[in-house]
Amino acid sequence: MTVKIGMVSEIQGDYMTFYINDETIEKVKDASDIVDIISEYVPLKKSGSNFVGLCPFHHEKTPSFTVSQTKEFFHCFGCGEGGDVITFIMKRENLSFYEAVKFLADKAGIPLEERKSIDNKYIEEKNKGYEINRVAARFFYSNLTKNKAALEYLYRRKISSRVIKQFGLGYALDNWSALYNYLKSKGYKDEEILKVGLIGKRSTGDGYYDIFRNRIIFPIIDIRGRVIGFGGRVLVDSMPKYLNSQETYIFSKGNNLYGLNLVSKLSDRKRIIIVEGYMDVISLFNHGINYAVASLGTALTEQQGKLLKRYGQNVYICYDTDKAGIKATLKAIEILRKLDIEPKIVILDGYKDPDDFLKENSIEDFESKLKSAYNHVDYKIFLYKNKYNVNETEGKIGFTKEIAKVIRGLKSPIEKDVYIDKISREMNISKEAIEKEVFGNNNRVFKQQNTVVRKNISPLKVSLPTANLRAEMDLLRLMIFNKEYHDKVMQELSLDDFENFECKEVLKIISDLYIEDEILDEDILFERAMDIPNLDMELIEKIIRKPINFLPETVEQMIKDLVTTLKTNRLEKERDRIKEKIEEMEKIQNKDPLQEKEFLQLCVELTNLNKELNLIRHEEGR
Ligand code: CTP
Ligand code: MN
Repeated sequence: MTVKIGMVSEIQGDYMTFYINDETIEKVKDASDIVDIISEYVPLKKSGSNFVGLCPFHHEKTPSFTVSQTKEFFHCFGCGEGGDVITFIMKRENLSFYEAVKFLADKAGIPLEERKSIDNKYIEEKNKGYEINRVAARFFYSNLTKNKAALEYLYRRKISSRVIKQFGLGYALDNWSALYNYLKSKGYKDEEILKVGLIGKRSTGDGYYDIFRNRIIFPIIDIRGRVIGFGGRVLVDSMPKYLNSQETYIFSKGNNLYGLNLVSKLSDRKRIIIVEGYMDVISLFNHGINYAVASLGTALTEQQGKLLKRYGQNVYICYDTDKAGIKATLKAIEILRKLDIEPKIVILDGYKDPDDFLKENSIEDFESKLKSAYNHVDYKIFLYKNKYNVNETEGKIGFTKEIAKVIRGLKSPIEKDVYIDKISREMNISKEAIEKEVFGNNNRVFKQQNTVVRKNISPLKVSLPTANLRAEMDLLRLMIFNKEYHDKVMQELSLDDFENFECKEVLKIISDLYIEDEILDEDILFERAMDIPNLDMELIEKIIRKPINFLPETVEQMIKDLVTTLKTNRLEKERDRIKEKIEEMEKIQNKDPLQEKEFLQLCVELTNLNKELNLIRHEEGR
């Protein structure tokens, strides 16, 4: 593989390209001892065959960040970050893959082959784009300083000249070709200006016109300080209120956040707030909050979510309070939670947006809103309470049903229990009824887990694994130990017999690995598991790493017993499900022939299941 890359050479401030291929990557990795490199960022202590320290990617008091020198790999059991030395530098120094390789190569004194000519053309083109944008931004800024109406507009919105400078705000003249003429006078070509989206072709076919006219200009600047696009706002209430640069070869909305250039320089990265508008970011900065960004008029993308994660340990969503804002908030929650971010939602009841809020309130008021920000469940409770009239029975039912769905989606049984309790008290509905709504009638495992939690007085993170989960884990450990055991188990069971999500995923990987090789490498198993989103890595660690005690003489019996446990559990569940269906159908007074047939079918199934279960129990008893 040969990759041509564009790289900013910090020292010279110009652009160079380097060749990086597999060989160079290997060379760089060989020369970069992972423990040495990481030690420059995190104090590490030897612990067994590994090194441990406090994780640099999340806040912790006891070290769960582990580095393996021999495996050239790091992993944090607290937050799940992990990878090789290149990944570490990418994350820590906020670099792309290629930049991280270059970074490490420089450190190790490995020269990279420089490329000029053809490959540089694309980079040069991009640089030209950034340059035109920068020249345009300066032009807009200088217009602003000379235009009374535009300045007055900003002052009326309480934006200081310090903030104007900080954001490089500007003004596009009320003229169809002021910018075009200016850029032409600086020697830029029509196509070059057209490509960055600052001008449009006249419909008559001859000549060009300025896209931004008579608007306040918000340059959009990336974290490297390059102007990649613009937003423009009208001064009076005409339409459209905001106009943004179209996507160009240097501007991709979904990959950037407005204000991130300043956040990356100024914020301590403890918190970051995502807002809707340019003016919200600016107002917050105006009031001293240097950790707000806006998502550029689009729905939050995954890429933007990753940026938020990188620039703030805690992510706050503070979108507009209107319908569109609520919709965007729910979407953002979903995207962020997929990235393992638990966002907090700031509610500015009675105000349109943060800018609006700050017109009438102090920054301390805003800070206290941050403090009382909701987690996603409380936010949904808040929304549904507004949607339903919970003082009436029907509203109460509707509300509780919707919230039950939210609770069902929670991973932690403790959280589930806490919210069931809360809703039960608030709505004056029995806990049992809500539990039924959440778990369904027949989900024994969930209920068992819940009982266990309720008995625990302090809300510790440990919930005892159910007998079934323990059986699944033991089986997996045996299967990891030896391919023969794996094959034996798989003769008896299928993937569906495993109930726990993590166990299922581990089993899939184990089977895959045995297809590739007779002997299973636990580290590879672990690495593959790390690639799967939403896995509870602590449980995975337990499944994979915990030693299992067994005697070779008795292992056969042990496997048999465990298989029986899983089989029985599955059959019992199936039986509960069918029973419930039968009970439902019994309520139907006059069944039509089709229903009658289905009913009989269910009864037969139930009898068969009972037979099967009896057989297993009988065998077990022998
Ligand atoms: N937006 C946009 N195009 C529009 C309207 C809005 O790109 N036609 C984006 C802008 O980024 C804007 C944000 O959505 O900042 C929020 O829009 P809106 O709530 O209408 O504007 P405000 O931010 O409240 O702007 P202002 O306070 O200046 O009225
Ligand atoms: Mn506003």
